[in-house]
Amino acid sequence: MPNLFASKHPLILHKLSRLRDKNTEPKKFRELVREIAALLTYEATADLAVTPRELETPLAKMTGYELKEKIGLVPILRAGLGMVEGIWELMPVAEVWHIGLYRDERTLKPVEYYNKLPIEPTVSVCLILDPMLATGGSATATADVLKRWGVKKIKFVGLIGAPEGIKMMQDHHPDIPIYLAAIDDHLNERGYIVPGLGDAGDRQFGTG
Ligand code: PRP
Ligand code: URA
Repeated sequence: MPNLFASKHPLILHKLSRLRDKNTEPKKFRELVREIAALLTYEATADLAVTPRELETPLAKMTGYELKEKIGLVPILRAGLGMVEGIWELMPVAEVWHIGLYRDERTLKPVEYYNKLPIEPTVSVCLILDPMLATGGSATATADVLKRWGVKKIKFVGLIGAPEGIKMMQDHHPDIPIYLAAIDDHLNERGYIVPGLGDAGDRQFGTG
C-alpha cells in the first residue's frame, strides 16, 4: 500500500513482542514504547530536508548539514506521551504540541478535550504520535486539526495499526504517510486491536 510503512527490523520485532506480552510491567512497557518510537522515527524522518552548514573539524574546513525544517511532535494524550522522550533524544529541538482526545467507549468516536495550538503554525513538519491506530478516529481527527492549523507536511508514527484504522486514515488523509511497528489482524467488538497489546494508556500509566 502506498504511504504505509510497517517495520520488519529485528530490533523492532523483538521489542514489540516484549511490549505485547501481558506480563510486561509498566516500567518496562514505558521503556519499550520509548525505544520503539525512536527506532520508527529514524525511518519516518529519512526524507527530511537538510541545508549545508560550514564547519571546521580538528583537521579541515568542510561543508556539513543541518536539518532545515522545524519539526513538531504531536502526541495524542494520553498514550502518545510515552513516545515523546525517545524521539526527543534524536531531535532535542523539536517542539511538542499536545492534543487531548479520548475515545467514547460507546460510540468509539474521538472526543477532543485539549488543544492549545497557537493561531499560526510554528513548525513545518508534524509527527503525530499515538501507539494505537484502531478505528482511526483519533488519528484522523488530529490530522484534521493540524491541517486546519496550516501544517503542510504531516506523518503518523504509531506502534500497532489495525486494517480498519489504516483504511480510515488513507481514505481521509491519503497524503499522510503511516509508520508502524506492526499491522495486526482486526478490531474486536469493543474496538480493541487483536492481537494488539491491550490498552496502551493503561499499560503505560499503570491504570488498568
Ligand atoms: C487510545 C489510543 C488512541 C485511540 C485509538 O486512546 O491511544 O488515541 O485509543 O483508537 P481509535 O483509532 O479507535 O481512535 P484512548 O481513547 O484509550 O485514551 P487514552 O490514551 O487516554 O487511554
Ligand atoms: N486503544 C488502545 O489502547 N488499544 C487498542 O487496542 C485500541 C485502542
